[in-house]
Formats: sequence, C-alpha cells, structure tokens
Amino acid sequence: MKNEDWLRSAVVYQIYPRSFADGNGDGVGDLAGIRARLPYLAELGVDAVWISPWYASPMADGGYDVADYRDIDPLFGSLAEAERLIAEAHALGLRIIIDLVPNHCSDQHPWFAEAVAAGPGSPQRARFHFRPGRGTAGELPPNDWQSHFGGPAWTRVADGEWYLHLFASEQPDFDWDHPDVRAEFEDVLRFWLDRGVDGFRIDVADHLAKAPGLPEVRDYRARDANDSPWTDQDPVHEVYRSWRALADSYEGERVFVGEIWLEDRDRFRAYLRPDELHTAFNFPFLSTAWDAEALRTVIDRTFADHGPIGAVPTWVLSNHDVIRHVTRYGRADTRHSWDPVTEGVPVDLALGRRRARAAALLTLALPGCAYVYQGEELGLAEVEDIAAELIQDPRWPRSGFTDRGRDGCRVPLPWSGDGAPYGFSPEGATNTPWLPQPPDWAGFSAAAQQGDPASTLELYRAALGLRRTEPDLVAGEFAWLPAPDGVLAFTRGAGFTCLVNLAAEAVELPPRSSLLLASGPLTGSGLLPGGTAVWMRTA
Ligand code: NOJ
Repeated sequence: MKNEDWLRSAVVYQIYPRSFADGNGDGVGDLAGIRARLPYLAELGVDAVWISPWYASPMADGGYDVADYRDIDPLFGSLAEAERLIAEAHALGLRIIIDLVPNHCSDQHPWFAEAVAAGPGSPQRARFHFRPGRGTAGELPPNDWQSHFGGPAWTRVADGEWYLHLFASEQPDFDWDHPDVRAEFEDVLRFWLDRGVDGFRIDVADHLAKAPGLPEVRDYRARDANDSPWTDQDPVHEVYRSWRALADSYEGERVFVGEIWLEDRDRFRAYLRPDELHTAFNFPFLSTAWDAEALRTVIDRTFADHGPIGAVPTWVLSNHDVIRHVTRYGRADTRHSWDPVTEGVPVDLALGRRRARAAALLTLALPGCAYVYQGEELGLAEVEDIAAELIQDPRWPRSGFTDRGRDGCRVPLPWSGDGAPYGFSPEGATNTPWLPQPPDWAGFSAAAQQGDPASTLELYRAALGLRRTEPDLVAGEFAWLPAPDGVLAFTRGAGFTCLVNLAAEAVELPPRSSLLLASGPLTGSGLLPGGTAVWMRTA
C-alpha cells in the first residue's frame, strides 16, 4: 500500500468551472480562466485544486451530465488545454483532483443514444436500468423511486420502456452490474491518471450499485436511510477496491475523495478501508449548527470514525450544492438542511460573516484535509434573489418551481472592478456572466481585498500560510482544553492553541507567547468577543 501523506494535511480548493473565471469572454468560466488564476491559488496557499466536471456535456446539470469522459467541453476549452493546465498547476506546486461522475452519464452519451435506438431487450440497454412500466399499458413508472431533484426517477422513451435516473432525466443511471460499465470507468481512470491528475472526487460515490430487482421503498426521500435500495449497496466496495489498486499502480500518490452523505458511521467508515477510498467529505461537520457543543460532538465523532482505521479526516463548510455558510450562519437556524425553501427567512449577513471567519480558523486548525469552496475566501454570501427566469438549476423545474436550487452559491466570482462582471470576464466580453452578479459585490472582489489586513481574503492567506510554517499545525496532536460554555478550545502539539468563541459574551484569552491570528478584533480590554476565533502560540 502506498502512503497518501500529501492529503493528510492538504487544503483543497474547489473550482466550479462555469463560475470561477471566464477567459474567452463568453460569460461562462473556462480552463483559460482557471489557468490565468493558478498563481492566485498558489499565492492563496492551497495545496490542491478540485475541479468540478469539465467534460463534454450538454450542461443539463452544470456538467454533472457527462457525454464524453475523455474530452473537455468546448465551452470550457480543449483536452490539450486541460493537459497544459495540469502541467502548469504542477509547476506551481498545486495538485489537481478532477471530478468523476460514475453513477450516471448524459442522455447524449453515445452509449445511452445507442441504448435508446437499439430497443427493449438489446444488449445496449443492459448498460442502464431500462424496465417496462407498470399499469395496464405500462403507463406507470416501474417503481415509485423519486429523483433527488424532484419528480419520478424514471422517464419513458418512445417505445414505452422506462429508464432510471436518480437525478435529472438527462442523467440516466448506469447499471454497475454490467462488466462494460466497470471496464469503461477503469479505462477512464487510466486516461486521466496517464495525464497526470493527482486524484478524483467521486460524485455520489455510494449510489453506483442498486439493490437487485430495484425494490420499492416506502420512505423514498430518506436520503440517509441505510436500507434505501439505491444507496450504499455492498457491491460498490468491489468497485472502489479495483480503483484503488489501479491508482496505487501509478507513480506518486493518486487519491480518491468520495461524496458520501451516509448517516450510518459504520457504513461510512467501510468506504475508507485501506484498500478503498482515501477520504470522504465530512458532511456531518458541514451540516452542524454554529453551536459549541454540537461542533465538539461532530469533531469528536470525526476523530472516532477516522482514527482507528488510519483514515484522513476532512473538514468542509461549503460546496457547489449547499447554501454558502456566510448565509447559513447568519440565520436563526444555522444548520445545513436540504429543505430548500429559505426565501423570506431573515438573515444577518454581518453576523454570518463574522462567524464564517471564525469557522475558517476553526476548520483550518483541525488536523486533516480541509476544503475551501471558491469564493469562501472572499466571504461571499449566497445570492438569493436571482430572477426566476434566469435560474439554471434543474432542481427548479423538477420541483415544480418550488426549489430554487443551487445557483445562489454558483454565481460567477468577483475578481476586480466596481460592477458586473467584476473581472470575471475580460474587458470587451461579448456576453454577460451566465448568472447575474449582485450590484454590491465591488468590495468583495479579490482585488478590493488584496492587501487589506481586515479582509477575508487576507485572513485566509494568513491562515493558510501559518498552516505551512507552524509545525504544530501540520503534525501536532490534537487535544481539547477545558473551556467555558459556548467556547471551543484546543491545542495542536505543545505550542499551538485555537480558541473559538461561539457564545454572545466575550471571554478571556489564556496565557500565550504570541497571538498569531484573529478572525476579528479583540475587545478594548483584550477579550475575545462572540463569533470570533484566535490562533495563538502558547509555548
Ligand atoms: C452531486 C453533485 O455534487 C451535484 O452537483 C450533482 O447535481 C449530483 N451529484 C448529480 O451528479
């Protein structure tokens, strides 16, 4: 077994390519934009970049509907450009993790087009889940499974058969019992490993295998139910064992991170066995309220889950699927929830931002691998007022226009300037950004924050810098310190202490040799105010 040491303390920056930077002026982010901003990422101090899907795609789900796993969508660039991007990132010391989408493809993928054309009973259909319908004329879907985006998980084709799609109807699920599917994905892995990628983020990693016979369930919306027949079926582990062996046969440390929302801890841990995935996202941490006790519990649980099996814990606050944590932490209920209806729920963004800055210091001081979602380092909030006719997320139509979906965390980033496109697109761009940017984003641009010690960008830079220069932050043992109610305090090694005040009242700081970093100003008398965190050298 090879070691995966780089991941053990890495900070991984997530790029959602449509929204990161637009190099060619068409209003959509692309590889040219990413390449131009690699120095920004290196300077920010991250170790790796995870790029959400960049493959050829009709973009029914922002690229999570893949038509060709071995090519780049022309909207984003070309394969040659992806190869250059990987080389340039490596030259800057940045590793590249790409997004692999194995549960489903696009309805424009050649295999699916062939399957539809070949008709019922054909070998081409056996690579997907095609079934006759129920009812006297097959007019009802084969079962009552529901799509995660709303509506039935089945769509009917012209000859009367139905196919399964756990997401949009443009995203047919592969049948992972089929040997062609397994062989194809091993080949896709090789294709990208040969091109030097350092790892893969695996989309809905626990969904690939389905229970035999696709049995009915009563509580079909219970995403985390361990008995749901589309989630966490044992044969999926064979897939990851073979992928791990394949990745380990390559030079360097090529890694996997699974997108796994499973609640059951034993089942979750099974994916992190030494011959399976290296890591999985810590969604319980992301989902936890801004509450000291709740966070302490989830942090302890994370260590308990990972420690005994030697797996690397991860820490994540935001991604392209959830409400940005500045907004979440500014609400009365600070938990992440899939309940999409947040319109009209009051939010205090100043409070959310203060807490988000403290949460950054908490997250970046914990041992393990931390994720930063693009724009989080700029302190961006969710954009909640996108006009209905401009919403692109398939969840909007599929929910019968009740769930506005995830566009609010995918608004193109502000890089510079006083108004849209805020440097997202170059001067003289032909199109406006694919989603509208708020009129008050000038102060949030990277250029506006650069060099301002009070800015969130400089807070992240300082924190990421210290993660590299303070040896205790890299490798020091973690231990809780006694702390008043509402306060989290812990040490790393002999010389580093992090204190996070989640209470309303200010608290005293412990004795220290130096204050390394604070997420906000201390009180006039040197106390740590509520919603504020500090890093200290204590030896
Ligand atoms: C999870 C991805 O993160 C999300 O953006 C996507 O819509 C679904 N999987 C389907 O691929």
